[in-house]
Order: sequence, then structure tokens, then C-alpha cells
Amino acid sequence: MTLSMKDKILKRFLLASGDPISGQHLAEELGISRTAVWKHLQSLQEEGYTFDTVKKKGYLLTSKPDRVDAASIASFLSTERFGQTVHYLEECATTQAIAHELVRKGAGDGTVVIAETQTDGKGRMSRPWESTKGKGIWMTVIIKPDVLPHQAPQFTLVAAVSIVNAIKSLYSNFTPMIKWPNDLLINGRKCTGILTEMIAEIDRVQALLIGIGINVNQRPEDFPEMLQSIATSLSIEEQKQLNRAELVGTILNYLEKYSDLYVTEGFGPIKQLWEQASGTIGKQIKATTLTEVIEGKAIGITESGVLEIQLEDGEIRSIYSADIELK
Ligand code: BTN
Repeated sequence: MTLSMKDKILKRFLLASGDPISGQHLAEELGISRTAVWKHLQSLQEEGYTFDTVKKKGYLLTSKPDRVDAASIASFLSTERFGQTVHYLEECATTQAIAHELVRKGAGDGTVVIAETQTDGKGRMSRPWESTKGKGIWMTVIIKPDVLPHQAPQFTLVAAVSIVNAIKSLYSNFTPMIKWPNDLLINGRKCTGILTEMIAEIDRVQALLIGIGINVNQRPEDFPEMLQSIATSLSIEEQKQLNRAELVGTILNYLEKYSDLYVTEGFGPIKQLWEQASGTIGKQIKATTLTEVIEGKAIGITESGVLEIQLEDGEIRSIYSADIELK
């Protein structure tokens, strides 16, 4: 994990779960002076962390700001690669563009770009993506699987099942369902979108940029009026404030596990997980593609993640990319 010295100190406090840590101890453990430890604590205090001094025992972390920085995420990670390098930003235009730039500079598999807010967040089909400051997860995960370009869309499904399983493992009041290919809905309202971009040569994927947007702690009034009837947040559904760093760490744990499963065993196991979480299969749907509108019953996804729709006359059509409306 590439953490700065300040983040290493913060991670120690986050893992100490309420116990004080001696300054002398920290200095020896990290090979720096006690003055350096003190300076890093000062700088953490400027960022909103608060510490008490406990006599003869050291420093105690008493409160932390709600941030999705590298150290906060690190305490929830059990991965080898995913999230081991995190680029954290208070604000950016879009994490996708930063990820593109990092790939150009040689970023490794599982590198994460995450921001508290985006001023020009990108949705699918060139739509804007609302990224309310400090309330959601706005991140891009760079993955570098050894796959062919035509397999890239399947990673959107890998990401969708990773997010559903992370959410299911943490919260109990609801289960999101996947609307093909990449929306997560709760009670018919969207809480998550995924935008997968590919950097590739004709016969080789160099990197996939999995852009994940999750509404976590918004209240209904935080959404712009036009989204209020179609969007929701996990916090609205769970009826309490949620820990975003915990959710990011848990998603990255699943994403590494399922990406590796895909590479070793192919799409079969992912297809099964996806079908279990799908709210699309078996339903009457309207699919709007770039060239036409098709109505029929969604009967399944193929081994390559393509949606199959049966029309009224029995004909089966394959859908590679579309906007889906459940009827
Ligand atoms: C969709 O249209 O449903 C996909 C939305 C994807 C949004 C995420 S937020 C993080 C990443 N950066 C972006 O600009 N977009 C993706």
C-alpha cells in the first residue's frame, strides 16, 4: 500500500479502535522523530480529526471527518491489489479523466481515483452525473485484466454483482436489484450507476476504467428536483447515516475477488451471480438503442453478457447497449 507518512499514522489510529497510542511508540514504529509525529497530528487536526492527550498513554483519536481518503478506506480492505493505491481528491471534474491520465503514466491494476465531489461527472450516453459533495461514492477503479476487447462489457456486470454483494453484506433493510446492464435500483429508484470505459489496442485491453457512482448519504432534498422521484440513496433506504469508507473498502474486496474469478473461470459464475440479483429477467421491458426502440420480454443474458429479448411474435433479439425501461 502506498500511503504517505501522515496516512500511515492515521491508519494506525483508525485501527486502534478507541485505544490511545504513545507518540514515542509511533515514532519508533515508523522510524521518525516524535516532533515529526506531532507535526503530522497537527496537520490531521487541521483536516478535521480531533485527538485528546491521555496522561502517560499518548494520543487518542476522538473524532474524524467523514472522508473517503486512502487511510479511511485502508482500514476496511482485505485485498492484494485493489485499493492499495488510492488517489483521493476533494474535488475534480471527473474521476474518469484522471484515471485515463494515470493509465497513460502506467498506473497498476486496482488503482483507485476517488473524489468528494465532481464538477463534471459523466453518466452513460453522455449524460451528466450528479455528484453531491461528501454524500456519495464517486470513484473510478482502473483494472488491467488479461482479456480481449470484446469481453470488456462483461466487467460492467462484474462490477454490478460486486456492488450488490457489498451492499447486501453491510445493510439489512433492503436489497438492491440490477437493471441491465448497470443500474442498481431500490424500490424502483436508482441508487447506483456504472460507467465502463476501455483503453485498448485492436487485440488487447490495456485497461478498463470502472466508474462507480453511488448515492450513499443524500437526504431526499439533496437531489435536484428532476431526480427526486427517480433517485434514492442507501441512507434513505437504511434509515441511518452510513460509513462511505467502509462501503468503498467492501466493494473493492468483492471487485478484486470477482474480477479474479472472471479471469480464472470465465463469465459463467458471474452470470449466475448477476441473474440472482437481476430485476430485469422475466420482465416486460422497453429497450431504447441508438437506432430503435424494442419492446418484449427479457429472457436472459448470454454467456457474453448480451441481453436477449423475446418479441411478441416469438423472435429473439440480442441487445448490446440500450436504455432499459421496466414495464
Ligand atoms: C450511469 O449513467 O448510470 C453511470 C454513472 C457513473 C458515474 C460515475 S461517478 C465516478 C465516475 N466518474 C464519472 O464522471 N462517472 C463515473
